[in-house]
Amino acid sequence: MKKLGVAVIGTGAWGKNHIRVYKELPSTELIAICDVNPERAKTMANQYGVKAYTNSTRMLKNKEIEAVSVCTWSTHLAKEALKALRAGKHVLVEKPMATNTKQAEKLCETAEQNGLILTVGFLMRFIPGLQSIREAVESKKIGELVCANAKRVSQWPERIGDVGVVKDTAIHDIDVMRFISKQDPVTVYAKMGSMRHLKFEDYAHIMLTYKDGESAFIESNWLTPYKTRTLTVTGSDAIMRLDYITQDLWIEQQKESVQPRYPFQEPLKLELQHFAECILEKKKQLITGEDGVKALKIAQAAMQSSIKNRAIKLNR
Ligand SMILES: NC(=O)c1ccc[n+]([C@@H]2O[C@H](COP(=O)([O-])OP(=O)(O)OC[C@H]3O[C@@H](n4cnc5c(N)ncnc54)[C@H](O)[C@@H]3O)[C@@H](O)[C@H]2O)c1
Repeated sequence: MKKLGVAVIGTGAWGKNHIRVYKELPSTELIAICDVNPERAKTMANQYGVKAYTNSTRMLKNKEIEAVSVCTWSTHLAKEALKALRAGKHVLVEKPMATNTKQAEKLCETAEQNGLILTVGFLMRFIPGLQSIREAVESKKIGELVCANAKRVSQWPERIGDVGVVKDTAIHDIDVMRFISKQDPVTVYAKMGSMRHLKFEDYAHIMLTYKDGESAFIESNWLTPYKTRTLTVTGSDAIMRLDYITQDLWIEQQKESVQPRYPFQEPLKLELQHFAECILEKKKQLITGEDGVKALKIAQAAMQSSIKNRAIKLNR
């Protein structure tokens, strides 16, 4: 079987996982890694027996590399993803994809012009329980969709990068709401602020409303003494609850509660395997560059809403 030649740009806390998983997958061959921090690049390259670069332009000249994961600091993602696309590589860019939607749209245009796959690291979509919720919403197994509530809170992270909690954390749930409802919100209203961080918001409450009256509420912060990552979806006949950490799913009705069992799977493994299959087998992408643009647009509108203290209408 032909293996996909891959490389990773940015080998920090998260990039390390991309490297490990690419090494583990039978369909990919890790060719090289790149990090602006020479020590880190060298350590990772030695550990995995691949070539290290501190400059991605040089690495991207390597023709064996067909696809790249971009896992740099958030404000560097778009620049590095654009370089990779211009060098003819398929790209998985981590969330939040770019600093603004203009940059994100440029990535989509470049991928399309060059016939390349561009996807975004919204890995929640690969959790089987979330896929089951999406199917239940679509088939009306829980009745009419009424609302969805996402909670993604934790204690102060060991490292806070170069964006606040909305583009770092809530953006996962913004994407989840688009994924399960298969539609974009019409308005966004948000309150956010900073209790401890000097520069970025460290808590955010975001409310999305939809054209047929459904709503979604997203709570994100770095201020809670324990880590919670949950989704509750209320339908007219039942509710579904997902714990992203354990991947446990519950379907609850007035008279009974059932817990469908899915074996725990590492979402990143599923995500990178799917990325490889989209390239090698031309599978349909679960997440497009456009999904990244739309999530970022909603995140930006939420930030604007909080500043202006009013709901923002989203033109779709
Ligand atoms: N999808 C997810 O669930 C998920 C989870 C964690 C992090 N992330 C995303 O992954 C990215 C990285 O997060 P992290 O926690 O690993 O950060 P990190 O600070 O630990 O690592 C970033 C690494 O990128 C390197 N780097 C920065 N700019 C670079 C450039 N232009 N070229 C090469 N290397 C560069 C840094 O030296 C550092 O080693 C962020 O965008 C974050 O939002 C996604």
